Amino acid sequence: MVASYGEGFGIARWHDAAAVIEAARHMGLADITRWTTPETVQQFLDSDQWIALVAVESDPPEDLRTPHILGCIIGGLEEEGRVWIELLAVSPSHRRRGIGRALITHLEGLVREMGYRALFVDLDDTNPDAYEFYRAVGFEDAGVIREYYYDATDAIVMSKRLL
Ligand SMILES: CC(C)(COP(=O)(O)OP(=O)(O)OC[C@H]1O[C@@H](n2cnc3c(N)ncnc32)[C@H](O)[C@@H]1OP(=O)(O)O)[C@@H](O)C(=O)NCCC(=O)NCCS
Repeated sequence: MVASYGEGFGIARWHDAAAVIEAARHMGLADITRWTTPETVQQFLDSDQWIALVAVESDPPEDLRTPHILGCIIGGLEEEGRVWIELLAVSPSHRRRGIGRALITHLEGLVREMGYRALFVDLDDTNPDAYEFYRAVGFEDAGVIREYYYDATDAIVMSKRLL
């Protein structure tokens, strides 16, 4: 089911990991297959440990396919009450139209109802646009984890309280 959001798009829960990964690759997360595989993501989605949402064009055709996906987000549910943003990407041609904000808002609504208390995300310091985005949608700085990524660069951690 697609929930209507803003102008020209809706948000739907998605269970096809391969489609989400393929869409994310085309949306700027070119290195996604370095840190995960469709099989791994599918296992997490099937077990409801992860929630995937996609933004799709309004009035999509029945056979909705990857080219219709305008943005996607994956939230990883952790037993301590955290939800970690595993992935977030919006198609370059559709940025600054509120799609990223709508994906976060929709995920927030779902996990708040489930009792989760906060969203967390890690960013590398070469992504100031994403940092500005997360600040704009209510995240605050939560610290730095040294040598977090493959190339031993630091991660900036941000969080947003939900309860
Ligand atoms: C970060 C990203 C998801 C934002 O998606 P988006 O749909 O363009 O964001 P929105 O339109 O909902 O923006 C909401 C607000 O965030 C802020 N914002 C978004 N992009 C911004 C940018 N490039 N520079 C500064 N502020 C920005 C603005 O305040 C914006 O509100 P405004 O447009 O009314 O000024 C998108 O740029 C993207 O896919 N980037 C590449 C992948 C990535 O870096 N993902 C995050 C790592 S987890």
